Amino acid sequence: MSDSIVWISGASAGLGAALAASVPFADARVIDISRSGGAAGTEHLPADLADPASWAAVEAHFVAQLGGFSGSRAVFVHNAGVITPVGFAGEVDSAAYRAHVLLNSAAPQVLGHAFLRALDGFGGRADLVMLTSGAARNPYEGWSGYCAGKAAVDHWVRTVGAEQARRGGCRVVAVAPGVLATGMQEAIRATDPRDFPAVAKFHDLHERGDLRAPADAAQGVWRLLERDLDNGAVVDLRALDG
Ligand SMILES: NC(=O)c1ccc[n+]([C@@H]2O[C@H](COP(=O)([O-])OP(=O)(O)OC[C@H]3O[C@@H](n4cnc5c(N)ncnc54)[C@H](OP(=O)(O)O)[C@@H]3O)[C@@H](O)[C@H]2O)c1
Repeated sequence: MSDSIVWISGASAGLGAALAASVPFADARVIDISRSGGAAGTEHLPADLADPASWAAVEAHFVAQLGGFSGSRAVFVHNAGVITPVGFAGEVDSAAYRAHVLLNSAAPQVLGHAFLRALDGFGGRADLVMLTSGAARNPYEGWSGYCAGKAAVDHWVRTVGAEQARRGGCRVVAVAPGVLATGMQEAIRATDPRDFPAVAKFHDLHERGDLRAPADAAQGVWRLLERDLDNGAVVDLRALDG
């Protein structure tokens, strides 16, 4: 049996794939929760996390795998997220907006809760890491669902981190990784300024070569687990890593 079990949502691409490729624990079992899967060295738990029906299946997986798990470490990095649809509330497609809100706002809370519940009886070290963004603090026109979803992640983490500190339980942190060279940034650059007035900023960052490599950000995320952070900390890798 592996000594560590690591779930990463959205490990099929971008930062999640880079995290899966650099899990710092020897002989870890790594499970990718995504629609496409395919990341090397991972097991695939297929799930469309914008569909609430998938959340119970993920919870059942946490419970089944952690029940009787006698290793020393359990980690859930909730990284899956989308930026689309980009556009103003009241103008974008309603079904796409609904799916966005379910994935970016509701799934982190429901899946975070599910992981904590499944840890009942686990005696090792447990970490829950949520991916957030500077958009949690800065309103960007055209990203209402994204900004609100990441703000929800931050405040959930602050609240649940305090709860876990009281219980001596899991360490819960949120991390903003910086602007990354991933498919999400390609989607951002492909948007019309009418739908996303700040798009020029992201073209400029790209043209200046200022996007951070996902592999580099992944190292920063894994280093968080060894940092002396308060439970419930919301951190930005740019501030921590310089
Ligand atoms: N890129 C940036 O500049 C940036 C900046 C700040 C924060 N972040 C955050 O960092 C995280 C990773 O972003 P990224 O840039 O790596 O994104 P990405 O390259 O677009 O990859 C997104 C990942 O999320 C998964 N995903 C999307 N929709 C899903 C769904 N309905 N169900 C299950 N999985 C789904 C995708 O897998 P499938 O398509 O296979 O389902 C994919 O593995 C996100 O939470 C993002 O908000 C990114």
